[in-house]
Amino acid sequence: MVEGLTIGRREGPRDTAVKPSTTLELLAREGPVEVTRQHIKAGKVFYLDEEASWQGFEFVYVISGLLALKQGEGEVPLSPGDYAYHHGLAERAYFHVREDTELLMVASPPSFQIMRDEIVDMMSLGRSVEEKDSATEGHSQRIEELVVATGELLGLTGEQLIVLSHAAYLHDIGKVSVSDAILNKPGPLTDEEREEMRRHPASGAKILARKAFLKEAAEIVLAHHERFDGTGYPNGLRGEEIPIEARILAVADAYDAMSSPRPYGAVRSKPDARGEVTRNAGTQFDPAVVTAFFSVVEAFDA
Ligand SMILES: [Fe+2]
Ligand SMILES: [Fe+2]
Repeated sequence: MVEGLTIGRREGPRDTAVKPSTTLELLAREGPVEVTRQHIKAGKVFYLDEEASWQGFEFVYVISGLLALKQGEGEVPLSPGDYAYHHGLAERAYFHVREDTELLMVASPPSFQIMRDEIVDMMSLGRSVEEKDSATEGHSQRIEELVVATGELLGLTGEQLIVLSHAAYLHDIGKVSVSDAILNKPGPLTDEEREEMRRHPASGAKILARKAFLKEAAEIVLAHHERFDGTGYPNGLRGEEIPIEARILAVADAYDAMSSPRPYGAVRSKPDARGEVTRNAGTQFDPAVVTAFFSVVEAFDA
């Protein structure tokens, strides 16, 4: 062995942070420089931060997969062998992950710890609600993918899409403060029980607002049970008063809840669930969102 040389093996032990859509591995750190590898699933959006929030040198190399850098109305593809780097960005650079992608990143000063902390926070919050309400297992992840694709189709910005994906993943976090007896009750709820259940958007928003990086997502979680016609809760918002992210989330949430297996209650077929959501376009749901959502569902199911 040459003195001073470190060899890392592909399967060797290292610092990692894992969530369903992303695996982050720290390969090497020396002084102010970090080298990381990331696997990111298709459908995700990520960004390189602007100079005002993060100053330094950052280099991204595409090992496999396909990225699209948003540039005004258009986008610039990055394929295996392509790379990008900067030492201070005037604005955030948003990348859409078009195919499952593996990246090599070099950054100075280090940012692994910040990214890992966010992943750990997301995962522990997500787990706390899945443990409490087993019916939500897999639900949040499925809708996260659908809402981001729907949002993109509706022209949301990269920033809105990231907020939306966080909100989708954690939308029912407030259920941790609803009693088990109510969450698991097979029959209809009493008025009082319904009242308690209806507090979950507000308690969820409160939990999310404690983390700086989830502040905007908290607003969306608060509004995920508002209805387009103004009869929803907690604030009875109507139409475009409801943030677009929450209008998208409401459609995906209802569709997935109806069409995926549940411990209680009949499961609808996908066409049945689609019919039910479509019937409620204009009352419960924003009709433009419903149209965009089902074109995304069709593309996913194809
Ligand atoms: Fe909910
Ligand atoms: Fe839900």
